[in-house]
Amino acid sequence: MNEVINAIKTRRSIRRFRPEQIKEEEIQTIIEAAIHAPSGHNEQPWHFTVIQDKELIDHFSRVTKKLMAESEIEWIAAMGRNERFHLFYNAPTIIVVSGRKDAYSALIDCSAATQNMLLAAHSLGLGACWIGLTSFLFKIEEEVKKFSLPDGYEPFFTVALGYPDPAKQPRPIERKRNVVNYIK
Ligand SMILES: Cc1cc2nc3c(=O)[nH]c(=O)nc-3n(C[C@H](O)[C@H](O)[C@H](O)COP(=O)(O)O)c2cc1C
Repeated sequence: MNEVINAIKTRRSIRRFRPEQIKEEEIQTIIEAAIHAPSGHNEQPWHFTVIQDKELIDHFSRVTKKLMAESEIEWIAAMGRNERFHLFYNAPTIIVVSGRKDAYSALIDCSAATQNMLLAAHSLGLGACWIGLTSFLFKIEEEVKKFSLPDGYEPFFTVALGYPDPAKQPRPIERKRNVVNYIK
């Protein structure tokens, strides 16, 4: 099968990682894939913050979980209360994806870049998970400052990255098929 189609079809969200750090060249390849995403008006309005400080990653997980625990949405509150839950699944690297506030379509462009990162990671044999729940963390200005973003950028989501734990990996999931209509 075509390699790109194969990567798209076999990628899964990875939530169990080996503890060792990934290689710098792997991060570079993943970022390279991200910056080749399409963007509205070709603005390329993204910024990527690579975080590998375990204490800081754990801190972000703790702060986010505290906020999640106060959510009115019960499944989010339950995750926030779950002592065993780590927001980034103890991944050794996280990458915060931020967008330029005044760009034409920053959120969409950053989403495209994020999907490229997930596919690139998978094609390199790495595991990755898109973490949208960091939206709770991003409401706290004092925490966002820790990303040292360039002026005029705001964080949208995070990608957790690491080598997948071979003992525990997800199987393919059923995809909804009845999602197409043709007009000829
Ligand atoms: C916008 C967005 C936000 C997501 N946020 C989270 C998250 O915070 N935590 C998590 O474990 N997975 C998160 N995911 C991953 C989804 O749960 C996952 O993509 C979905 O269950 C399908 O599984 P698959 O990625 O293995 O195909 C997110 C995915 C997207 C697209």
